[in-house]
Amino acid sequence: MKKVILDVDTGIDDAIAIILALGCNDINVLGITTVSGNIHVDRATLNTKRLLKFLNREDINVYKGLSKPIKRELVDASHIHGKSGLAGQLEDIEVDEYVDDDALKFIEEQILLNPNEITIIATGPQTNIARLLEMKPKLAKMIKSMMVMGGAISVKGNCTPVAEFNISTDPEAVFEVIHAGIEDYTLVSLDVTQKALLKKEDLTLIKNDSIRNFIDDLTKNYMDRYYKIHGRYACPMHDPLVILQFIDNDILTLEKQYVTVETNSEYSDGMTICDFDNHWDKKPNVKITTDIDEKLFKDKFFEIINQVKI
Ligand code: BDR
Ligand code: CA
Repeated sequence: MKKVILDVDTGIDDAIAIILALGCNDINVLGITTVSGNIHVDRATLNTKRLLKFLNREDINVYKGLSKPIKRELVDASHIHGKSGLAGQLEDIEVDEYVDDDALKFIEEQILLNPNEITIIATGPQTNIARLLEMKPKLAKMIKSMMVMGGAISVKGNCTPVAEFNISTDPEAVFEVIHAGIEDYTLVSLDVTQKALLKKEDLTLIKNDSIRNFIDDLTKNYMDRYYKIHGRYACPMHDPLVILQFIDNDILTLEKQYVTVETNSEYSDGMTICDFDNHWDKKPNVKITTDIDEKLFKDKFFEIINQVKI
């Protein structure tokens, strides 16, 4: 079993990513940590706990992380994920009020207990990991791998003309993490996640009624929005793609490159810059994602989601 910590800002696609991670028999989710991003961390934590209850997986612990980006105020994405972060879904699920609010301690303890065995999968801003590595830099070499949804390498941004949301929310955090010396760090960027589409008509491939109905309701507004822009009912599975790539690394084409992030510019903060031609003569630090096998993505998505038992 591959040991994983999920670090999430539970909005619509994070929720689907969590479902997939729990559906995969080869993944051992050690715990889920939360962070402010799509919505405030308090809400992300509540959403995660409600989702786990819905999935009958309250055996998995949720640890609340940081509420604010390293140097900036939070600008959330409630205009996309809804005020609740989950498009108003799961509101009637009651969960126990207790929240462990030391996500950083949990991550540190797990890394020390399982040196070079844990993959951190981050589908929100990287604030938690950045703070932890700032305090405990030696941990970077003890993380087996890190896989992150974030960035726009050769495509335009979705939050500013050049920046993707997770990076744009906390660029200082990303800067810290990608330069911290983690040996195996993959950035699953908009270049590929925008092509990982969940289409309305494909929802019928989900066999479990509760899960199909939940995902249908969860993605309704998200798909309507996509329809208005692109003329088809679908939505990009940004965060789920990271989980699926972790499960089957043939889905994406990777290239190891030197990548950095802009943190000090009025117009291009949060831009992920890849030195393809090695102008800066720096050692590659990030596996970027250049292409996607869309059919394999779709096959894996439905294979794994149909393994989920609730
Ligand atoms: C990313 O931003 C968030 O809104 C999504 O959950 C995803 O992690 C896509 O840019
Ligand atoms: Ca997310």
